[in-house]
Amino acid sequence: MFAIAHLLKKGEGKIAEVGEEKVAAYRNDSGQLHLVSSVCTHLGCVVHWNSAEKSWDCPCHGSRFSVDGKVLEGPAYLDLAKREK
Ligand code: FES
Repeated sequence: MFAIAHLLKKGEGKIAEVGEEKVAAYRNDSGQLHLVSSVCTHLGCVVHWNSAEKSWDCPCHGSRFSVDGKVLEGPAYLDLAKREK
């Protein structure tokens, strides 16, 4: 995970491959890393980083999640799973 932190600028989010999994990684303005699953809990599409809103948005049906994976907008109603730092 150390490598991910150094790939991300503060305030930036990216999808990063960790082993065989794609993880949604965000580094906040203090440098803290937030890692959640990149797989949307609605029907399984991979979320994209929205730099304007600082959220993870699903391109398939419009669900949106916070940097900590909390649902901001449906149709998904389950949060993205947290991942280990
Ligand atoms: S799969 Fe993400 S909103 Fe449907």
